[in-house]
Amino acid sequence: MRKPLIAGNWKMNLLNSKVPAYFTDLEKAIHGVDRKKVDTLLAVPAPFLATAREHAQRAGTLIATQTIHEKNDGAFTGEISIPILKDLGIDWTLIGHSERRQYYNETDASVAAKTKATLAAGIHPIVCVGETREEREAGKMKDVLKRQMEAVLAVVSADSAFTVAYEPVWAIGTGLTASDEQAEEAHAFIRAIVAAKFPTLAERLRILYGGSVKSSNIQGLLKQPNVDGALIGGASLDPAEFGKTVSLAASV
Ligand code: 13P
Repeated sequence: MRKPLIAGNWKMNLLNSKVPAYFTDLEKAIHGVDRKKVDTLLAVPAPFLATAREHAQRAGTLIATQTIHEKNDGAFTGEISIPILKDLGIDWTLIGHSERRQYYNETDASVAAKTKATLAAGIHPIVCVGETREEREAGKMKDVLKRQMEAVLAVVSADSAFTVAYEPVWAIGTGLTASDEQAEEAHAFIRAIVAAKFPTLAERLRILYGGSVKSSNIQGLLKQPNVDGALIGGASLDPAEFGKTVSLAASV
């Protein structure tokens, strides 16, 4: 069985000055949780990375950035490079979140370039895929997932260390969660695409579900054989709620 990863994505929320208290509260909320049963991670705004890294250790939580640039340096105003991330002691990043694809023109090609660069540098990417509501309603969910996954699979190898997050765009921040069965169908499909090219990688690959996950729905999702964790937006902003979700994940 793959060890579940419960990841939070703070997006553009919270404040650097609130980070220490967040981790104090998270530590309390997950005190006593068997950490052999669950991994935790938080993707925080870039200016909080150093503070978060310092305090996250108390809660045994990995820290990630929310996006990364594929080039090591240069005239790319506002971007964060892999060397900047490594210098801060951070080795995880989200790539290709639907909000990056939707608002910042990230494409399958740029997601692939970022994935390739991070893997080469020993950074662990959590690559996000998922269909929009229009795509699902037009019966194109599988076509979209296949296209997005094949772009990623073109730049990985059988021993690459990365994670996939399936986040149906229609379930993000809407309160609409995919049903356990809808999540399982998409996750099984993603795993089959990976298995067609890299069978052993597919066995160990963690596929997270994202889209209105919270403590009340985590267990049903994690009971699905191909759901290996969650990427949580809104409900990760409250450390007590995020901690409760982590505790429940450890007891599935
Ligand atoms: P919500 O949990 O707020 O729906 O956000 C999901 C998400 O986009 C996590 O990356």
